[in-house]
Amino acid sequence: MRIDVITLFPDFVRQSAAVGVVGRAQQRKLLQVETWNPRDFTDDPHRTVDHRTFGGGPGMVLLIEPLRRTLQAVREVEAGPAHVVYLSPQGARLTQDRVSRLAAMPRLTLLCGRYEGVDERLLTHEVDEEISIGDYVLSGGELAAAVMIDAIGRLQDGALNDAQSAQQDSFSDGLLDCPHYSRPVQDAFGDVPAVLLSGDHAAIRRWRLKQALGRTWLRRPDLLARRSLDKESRALLDE
Ligand code: ADE
Repeated sequence: MRIDVITLFPDFVRQSAAVGVVGRAQQRKLLQVETWNPRDFTDDPHRTVDHRTFGGGPGMVLLIEPLRRTLQAVREVEAGPAHVVYLSPQGARLTQDRVSRLAAMPRLTLLCGRYEGVDERLLTHEVDEEISIGDYVLSGGELAAAVMIDAIGRLQDGALNDAQSAQQDSFSDGLLDCPHYSRPVQDAFGDVPAVLLSGDHAAIRRWRLKQALGRTWLRRPDLLARRSLDKESRALLDE
């Protein structure tokens, strides 16, 4: 998969995509992250990309022309059509379902806003989808782009050393993850639950599902309300 990021801070995006699972996915050629700076698509000496907002008020707006040219250049790269996502707090909330859908695309373009945002006309004509990573305001879309690249990158086939770990993630089945334990078995902070040492895989699976259901029930009841529980989960909740 190829992800093109349009940003005034390309170094930040490149560096954040160079480490960990995403960095490894790039090394393995499962993912390619490229950056484009709209300042490179200006033709004035100051490389102007923004201007005051019409109607008054604080803040600056990213101008249509440098972004239009940047998007045109991104489109000219022969890697198939690029679904364009604008990152902003006004977007639809990013969920694991959205991440999975985007991760299955061959190509994605992420447009990072700065200042008060982007001229609305560019968004109307060039953007396929607007996404927010949560109900808070960042000073730009770069951190949101880094979040999306991480969430998408780790879902590329072969990115995780253990493919099952993506399937067992929180949210992949609509539930929070169960607790995990490792060595030592006994510690001043407590013992590892005996069932996990039993070797009884059916019992372990039931215990994990029960823990996941319990945590979701306590911490994120909204997720349970949206999920239609399977028979086993309903039985465990009734216990
Ligand atoms: N840019 C600024 N705030 C944002 C948010 N919450 N999500 C995505 N992009 C943003």
